Parts: sequence; C-alpha cells; structure tokens
Amino acid sequence: MKCVVTGVAGFIGSSIAEALLKKGYSVVGIDCFTPYYQRSLKENNLKSLSGDFTFYSEDILSTNLDRVLDEAEWIFHQAAQAGVRSSWGDDFSIYTSNNILATQKLLEKSKSLKSLKKFVYASSSSIYGDAETFPTPESATPKPISPYGVSKLAGEHLAELYRSEFGVPTVSLRYFTVFGPRQRPDMAFHKFIRAGLTNSLISIYGDGTQERDFTYIDDAVEANISAAQSGLGVYNVGGGTHATVNQVLEILGEFIGDLKVERTSRQAGDAKKTSADTTKIKAELGFTPKWTLRDGLASEVEWLKTIL
Ligand SMILES: NC(=O)c1ccc[n+]([C@@H]2O[C@H](COP(=O)([O-])OP(=O)(O)OC[C@H]3O[C@@H](n4cnc5c(N)ncnc54)[C@H](O)[C@@H]3O)[C@@H](O)[C@H]2O)c1
Repeated sequence: MKCVVTGVAGFIGSSIAEALLKKGYSVVGIDCFTPYYQRSLKENNLKSLSGDFTFYSEDILSTNLDRVLDEAEWIFHQAAQAGVRSSWGDDFSIYTSNNILATQKLLEKSKSLKSLKKFVYASSSSIYGDAETFPTPESATPKPISPYGVSKLAGEHLAELYRSEFGVPTVSLRYFTVFGPRQRPDMAFHKFIRAGLTNSLISIYGDGTQERDFTYIDDAVEANISAAQSGLGVYNVGGGTHATVNQVLEILGEFIGDLKVERTSRQAGDAKKTSADTTKIKAELGFTPKWTLRDGLASEVEWLKTIL
C-alpha cells in the first residue's frame, strides 16, 4: 500500500510518516522546506524516517505531481503555511499559495487517481474562531478570526467540493492544538519549554487565561490513520485535555523548576477558548485520545532536551 504525506518534514507530517513506515506501508513524502522555521529541525524530523520511504524535496505548487502521487492509495495532506499570528499583512500571499492553491492542485490531480482510497486534509480548530458553543461540534458555523483560519477553511471547502462534485474520497480533520515531540518552534509549549530549559524569559500573550483543547501528537497520528481507514467529511480531533496557558505553565514549572514569565499584549487572531466536541469522531471512527496533558508535556520536555 502506497501512502503520500505532504509536508513530510514538518511536525505532524513526519510523525504520520514514521507511524506508517513502522506499520510496513510504503511512504512517499514531499516537502520544500519553507523558511517559516529552521530547516535543521525539519532535517532532524526526516532522520526518523526509515524503511520504504521516498522523499521529494519539492514544492507542491511547482512540481510534477504525477510522479509523487502515482499509485497512491492514501494521501495525508499536511503541507501548509501554519501559524495564526503571521498571517496578517503582506504574508497572506504565502498562506493563499501554500494552503489554498497547493490544496486545490492536489485535489485536481486526485480526481483522476484511480488507486486513491482516501485523501485526508489537515484542517484546524482555527476555522471556528471564537466559537459560540463549547465543546464545539462540527456543525457549528465556522467564523475564523485570522487569515490563517480563513485559508484553512478554504482548503476544507475545496476538499468537500471535490468530494461532492468528483467523488474524491476526502476527510478533513480539524486539529485542536497539537503538541509533543517535534512541535514547531513557534508554538507555545515549544517556546515555553525551550525558555524554561535555557533559563530565559517566557513571554505569554494576554493574561494566560486563554484556554485550549490540546491534542498529543500520537493521538493526532492515530486520528489520521483511522480517518484513512473509514469515514468521510469533517471531524474534530481534540485531545480532551482542556487547560489554560497558566495551568500549563504550572505543570511545566513542576518539571523544569522556576519559570521566568513576562506577560505581553493579546495577539490579534488568537481565540479566547477552544474545546472540541469529539462525539462524531468517536462514534464514526472509533477514535479516543489516549494521552494526558501531563504525560504529553513530560514527553515534549524530554524531546526538547535532546535537541538543545
Ligand atoms: N500543529 C498544530 O497544532 C496544528 C493545528 C491545526 C492544524 N494544523 C495543520 O496541520 C498541518 C501540519 O502542521 P505542522 O504543525 O506539522 O506544520 P509544519 O510547518 O511543521 O509542517 C508543514 C510542512 O509543510 C511544508 N510545506 C508548506 N508548503 C509547502 C509546499 N507548497 N510544498 C511542499 N511542502 C510545503 C513545510 O516546509 C513544512 O515542513 C498544517 O496543514 C497545519 O495547518 C496544525
């Protein structure tokens, strides 16, 4: 069975590819090492991928996708320009290219891919914005509050459209803040732990009462594999580990020792709270997250110690 993972050098893509390779699947990965964060971290992620693995160091938008997708049965489309805060201003063109145009190009090619059994699209809880209901079900009206969220929602709409119009078997997984080993360096836990381990100042946005539903990376990987095996449409992927930023800092303090914290202003585009209603993914895909916030944080701390 051949699987394609886009964004394979990134946090989630490399973790999905590693799990597939361990299960004995053949994996073709593509990543163009966008400069959003250090290439060395992405190269490190790729080192964990051994077995039947082929890598294309190419941009989805400029490459000939026929070679990459040939005979693919499962496509895990993880490539994107991530990050809420940098999506304002001129940089939005990077988001439209890597999140919307790249997704449309892949879907267009998938239309004629006879081998294809599932196209799993990495969506995001950011499509909800400041939701009106908590926990938030998939049926809630999407109201992104960042250009990033708008671009991820556009990708999701394209996935739904290619399914309804052309029968491309798409699933969109709305990830709620994923954390754990290989987490991107712009993400809060990575920044907090790195600062804690190097005795530097931790900057938090706002008063730290913003609340998130955090999903451990192994659970996010499991959700992807479950979605490849069954289900169609849109699913929330939440770890069920609700906590405020202040609560996370308390746990990290227990692991690392005293943390130096400064509070800065709230950032435009940051939701006040996220909380996934996971009834649908549990019922239809049999997915239940296994990792607690505490164990997941401990695991991320151990990983960061190895790369500092
Ligand atoms: N990490 C999270 O908590 C989270 C939450 C919600 C949604 N997501 C989504 O999950 C996916 C993976 O996120 P991540 O945290 O692993 O990000 P990441 O930045 O670590 O990985 C994305 C990878 O895609 C690659 N890429 C981007 N554009 C490309 C292109 N045009 N061609 C080839 N490669 C390209 C980048 O080089 C990068 O390595 C993204 O789609 C993101 O929007 C992530």
